[in-house]
Amino acid sequence: MRFVVTGGAGFVGSYLVKLLVEQGHEITVIDNLHKGKKENLDEVIDRIEFLNIDIRDYDLIEKNMRDIDGIFHQAALTVVQDSFKDPEEYKSVNVDGTENIFKIANKNNLKVVYASSSSVYGHQDKVPILENFPKKPINPYGQTKLDDEILAEKYSKLGTKIIGLRYFNIFGKGQTIEYAGVITKFLDRIRDGKTPIIYGDGSQIRDFIYVKDIANANYLAMISDISNLHVNVGTGNAISILDLAKTMIDISGLNLEPIISEALDGDIQKSHSDSSLAKNSFGWISKTRLEDWLRDVI
Ligand SMILES: NC(=O)c1ccc[n+]([C@@H]2O[C@H](COP(=O)([O-])OP(=O)(O)OC[C@H]3O[C@@H](n4cnc5c(N)ncnc54)[C@H](O)[C@@H]3O)[C@@H](O)[C@H]2O)c1
Repeated sequence: MRFVVTGGAGFVGSYLVKLLVEQGHEITVIDNLHKGKKENLDEVIDRIEFLNIDIRDYDLIEKNMRDIDGIFHQAALTVVQDSFKDPEEYKSVNVDGTENIFKIANKNNLKVVYASSSSVYGHQDKVPILENFPKKPINPYGQTKLDDEILAEKYSKLGTKIIGLRYFNIFGKGQTIEYAGVITKFLDRIRDGKTPIIYGDGSQIRDFIYVKDIANANYLAMISDISNLHVNVGTGNAISILDLAKTMIDISGLNLEPIISEALDGDIQKSHSDSSLAKNSFGWISKTRLEDWLRDVI
């Protein structure tokens, strides 16, 4: 089959492109290389088409989405702190750009699987978080993802097949450091023999999901008969940041104590998914355990 992957030169997108190529599909990547790097696609660059295009350029992307079977939409601005500085730019790329994708899908009868985010939930008292919990994003980035969900519902009602995946905290090699990169940051420090720095008391919990599991969720969602749905994509397990730091120190064998530093403004206390809907809807489960991956890389 032929698919377009927007944001295919980014962290998630590049893993997804490699999975799709492995599965024998023809892939066109649309990415303006804002954060993405062509090197992320080195392994497959001879077997894909790469187009340096901005998703806000409706005519140009539409032209390249005519004879395809579906769109994996990953392109977005993803740095929460930057979204406070330039909310208009975030809206322009993440919301107007996404609406372009939905419009084209509607016009050409294409299915879309796109990246939403657990950031649509904001602070929740109760965990694990189910899809129907209240949506209350606490930053402009999360708001753009919620606006996308509202658009997705609008285009679904017009008959477009859309699935939105609410990714929890993704880990894996090649992650953009500014984006939820706590594991990458701890790894970098441990590699230098330094202790991890924790912002806040470390009791905040996160559901860390491996990037290849995210790629697989996209693929299964696309080939399923399901549409008109937003689902959590997390492991269903959570770990506190303090336990994460201790686990990583233990694995390293170094004699270190994590440093506790001042809490970050607006840090979410509990992020922990219930991912049974993804399993029940299109048979997806996460396969990689964080601790196994950490043992491998440290
Ligand atoms: N990484 C995470 O933990 C996480 C969690 C939840 C949701 N997400 C979402 O997953 C998707 C992928 O995130 P990622 O971590 O791979 O980020 P990333 O920054 O590595 O990838 C995003 C890609 O989009 C491209 N892009 C940005 N603006 C563009 C534009 N105007 N036109 C074309 N391409 C453009 C970038 O160049 C980059 O390659 C994003 O939609 C993000 O919001 C990520």
